[in-house]
Amino acid sequence: MEHMTERFRPAYHFTPAAHWMNDPNGMVFFEGEYHLFYQHNPDDIVHGPMYWGHAVSRDLVHWQHLPIGLKPDHNGVIFSGSAVVDWKDTTGFFHGQPGLVAIFTHHRRHPESGAAEQRQSLAYSSDRGRTWTMYAGNPVLESPEEPDFRDPKVFWHESEQRWIMVLAVKNKVSFYSSPNLKEWSFLSHFSGGSQAGVWECPDMFPLQVEETNDFKWVLEVDINPGAVAGGSGGQYFVGNFDGQRFIPDDPADSPLWLDYGKDHYAGVSWSDVPAADGRRLWLGWMSNWQYANHTPTSGWRNAMTVPRQLQLRSVGGRLRLVQTPVHEIQSLRTDETRLKSVSITHQQPLQVAAVGQCLDMQLDVQLQGCTEWGIRLCKGQNEETLVGYDSSKQELFVDRTHSGLVDFHPEFTGRRSAPLASNDGELSLRILVDRCSVEVFAQDGLVSITELIFPDAASGDLELFVKDNAALLHQMTIHTLQA
Ligand code: FRU
Repeated sequence: MEHMTERFRPAYHFTPAAHWMNDPNGMVFFEGEYHLFYQHNPDDIVHGPMYWGHAVSRDLVHWQHLPIGLKPDHNGVIFSGSAVVDWKDTTGFFHGQPGLVAIFTHHRRHPESGAAEQRQSLAYSSDRGRTWTMYAGNPVLESPEEPDFRDPKVFWHESEQRWIMVLAVKNKVSFYSSPNLKEWSFLSHFSGGSQAGVWECPDMFPLQVEETNDFKWVLEVDINPGAVAGGSGGQYFVGNFDGQRFIPDDPADSPLWLDYGKDHYAGVSWSDVPAADGRRLWLGWMSNWQYANHTPTSGWRNAMTVPRQLQLRSVGGRLRLVQTPVHEIQSLRTDETRLKSVSITHQQPLQVAAVGQCLDMQLDVQLQGCTEWGIRLCKGQNEETLVGYDSSKQELFVDRTHSGLVDFHPEFTGRRSAPLASNDGELSLRILVDRCSVEVFAQDGLVSITELIFPDAASGDLELFVKDNAALLHQMTIHTLQA
């Protein structure tokens, strides 16, 4: 990737070559390439007139920037949406061959009334996503009455042999079906969980339950504001989809949060990952609408999360979403530090100097009566980012109060926590650090916390500590990563 030396630019997380980025869009795998489009303002580092920026990767960790995919036209600017492989040429765009179709929201002000208008449109590509043609019949789906009507995620429903669209409509989702992506019929609505803000960027897919051959449907939907950590964030529902409607397993009014940090939004999964691979893969936008336009980078703004694999795990009889970084990031490992069986006490914290800020860490710890155990990351003279566990509250936390630059927006600073039972005092953490971000995955991905940080580039030490009593570090592996 270009410009790797700019301040805060991550070493292995996707960032735009220049200017502004928000949601991932048009995520599709085709002919050996993962496509990543994204909400992009090519003229500024704040949100503005939206285009689809474009990049491709063969391995999910090295990205090649391509020219802009979709540009505004007479129907408006290009808001979020998805892309699919039209294997059977149901659209007739591809002369019987497979091709790529993007389904997205055209957003504009109505020429007469001036009211905001959101309508769904198509664009297609017969050259592996390199060039795109707007469908002459756009838009293909207009709002019956609601102005918030956007972010279509489309997939092929095998048993019904038709396309399904899940669309965010104010504070619910609507399902539509189509034989050809051009004509859409309303199927049903779903709402539940938290409706404290506007729903955005839904996704829905069948997902495997770990270590079984069972599949369940997962519906994920973002909400802004009103998410668990404040501002924008995501929730999910587990249930069944019968081709018409989604029926949740849990009572639909208790939200399940996707991530307990402030900086995980608009996660969407890749369509058409080959069955031989079989994984459900996604990534999200690593920011929060509270301060996304104000983060202290220049020339470029905002990064994606690391690509993550999704699975379901049965926990106390309920199915819960589990996220783990894709195994491909192991190919980026450079240096390795390994420690085994180290006792940590209040008098004797464990210091590891100069490990840097581009890390993939695995820690297995036994809490020996300590009320709080933690790790100080990106530690410098006057700053540190805390990742830890509060045993009395049974909470995992990330505290960025003293992480570096925090005062660019009042909602940025502070501590975020997630409910997490330790496993008889045993805690297993995977932590990814990449100059401006920390992603924590606890108990093999059962809980995640994703947070931005803006430390001094020289703050590269780390320290493990306990507040009282002791903890035993069974093992810790620290890998330095570089894409
Ligand atoms: C979510 C969102 C979407 C919209 C896009 C506009 O972050 O607000 O709902 O399509 O961003 O850039």
